[in-house]
Amino acid sequence: IQVLLICGGGGSEHDVSLRTADFIQRELAGAPDIQLTRVTMNENGQLLDSDGMLRELRSDKLLYSASGSAQPVDYVIPSIHGYPGETGDLQSQLEILGLPYYGCGSEASKICFNKITTKLWLTALGVDNTPYQFLCTNTAEETAKAKDALQQWGTVFVKASNQGSSVGCYKVSDEEALEQALNDAFRLSPYVLVEKCLKVRELEVAAYTYEGELVITAPGEVCAPADTFYSYEEKYAEGSRALTHVVAEGLSDGQLGWIYEAAKRAFIGLQLEDLSRIDFFLTDDGEIYLNEVNTFPGMTSISMFPKMLQNNGHDFCTYLTALIRAAV
Ligand code: ADP
Ligand code: DAL
Ligand code: MG
Repeated sequence: IQVLLICGGGGSEHDVSLRTADFIQRELAGAPDIQLTRVTMNENGQLLDSDGMLRELRSDKLLYSASGSAQPVDYVIPSIHGYPGETGDLQSQLEILGLPYYGCGSEASKICFNKITTKLWLTALGVDNTPYQFLCTNTAEETAKAKDALQQWGTVFVKASNQGSSVGCYKVSDEEALEQALNDAFRLSPYVLVEKCLKVRELEVAAYTYEGELVITAPGEVCAPADTFYSYEEKYAEGSRALTHVVAEGLSDGQLGWIYEAAKRAFIGLQLEDLSRIDFFLTDDGEIYLNEVNTFPGMTSISMFPKMLQNNGHDFCTYLTALIRAAV
């Protein structure tokens, strides 16, 4: 089976996408029936091979090289966090080409990558999510709404609606920082959210398809240092002080049940496929909110998705090759 691994992409998570692709490539090296070709998408959307030479995927399901030679492609792994992979754009192209691919469809990807549409869907599905104010323009009128939110909630998170890995996510407690954060967030995204800052434990489940069945793991936990949040640096920089636990401790049966049901409702209601990591906030008051649905979760050395699979007794290579074989 000829598998095309596309990594990189044109967004702020380009480098993280390469690290996820490294993991997938290592895992698939153990599958004798899979021949993997890896290409990196640059910021112009061009596909480059490991020699930096242009490649092009065309509608005849062949991957062409600059010299005109071509190889078949049976299956694609869009290993791109953010634009244009996790946003559903690349998935739309693959759907037009009729190529099967790993992960959620274009529609679900698009809904879940945008933090506002995710919230609208979750609310429609009856799943509690963090209180927020939606801003659609960077105008004085809209900024006034953000200031009201800050006054009401004390500390808020300003978030660009279309970023991941904590890019465009700012924790602010005063008006000056709020204005700066709004300007920065609007530079990244046409829509912005101002969210109530909750004092929380951060819990994550892997939700994925194994042998045709939906599997939802027990929650794991990520712990950012007390003086910050789970920022890009705390996620990926060398010397990150964040800790991860593949299984969160001390949760009641009621909390575990709530998280399981909410993850299931989100996976089914949003029509997710193959994989996702669904993240929750557990407040000091014992309330649980679904924070976000990641349709293409990170698979770097700190990332929880592969660890939670493994802890659940599911070998990643076996899981992914089964999906590939079933799809081609
Ligand atoms: P991303 O999609 O970039 O991961 P998140 O919404 O998950 O964005 O926010 C990134 C991090 O910011 C979270 O993991 C958490 O540490 C912190 N955070 C975000 N929203 C809140 C909130 N409302 N209250 C407390 N912490 C938050
Ligand atoms: N967006 C990053 C890769 C994650 O959530 O894992
Ligand atoms: Mg997150």
